[in-house]
Order: sequence, then C-alpha cells, then structure tokens
Amino acid sequence: MAHLKKITDSSPLEIKEGKFPIYICRCQLSKNLPYCDGTHQCIKDEEGPNALYVYEGDRRIKL
Ligand code: FES
Repeated sequence: MAHLKKITDSSPLEIKEGKFPIYICRCQLSKNLPYCDGTHQCIKDEEGPNALYVYEGDRRIKL
C-alpha cells in the first residue's frame, strides 16, 4: 500500500515519563503508530520541501 503524505517533522517526539522515554512518531511512516519505529531514518536524505516521494513498504520512489 502506497502512502502519500506531506512530512513536516522527520524526528520523533520524546516524552519523558516514568523510567524510560516514549517516542511518538511525527513522520507518520511508522508501522507501529503512534510510536516511532525508526522508519523516519529513511527520509533524512530527502531533497528540499518541494520534492515529492512515495513510500511503498521499504521502497521509496521520487516523483
Ligand atoms: S518519527 Fe516516524 S518513525 Fe520515527
């Protein structure tokens, strides 16, 4: 299933509560929403704000 999303945040939100921090996904690509699963790492090298990408599973296509 392809995902077409405008990503505005490429890192998780860290919530410190209790003994261990919780990381909330802000890129919306996690397979374990609402939690970050590290998938945001694949968008770190995207080109500027006008570039458009499609993510399909582990595959990325630049349009
Ligand atoms: S912020 Fe979305 S997977 Fe980490």
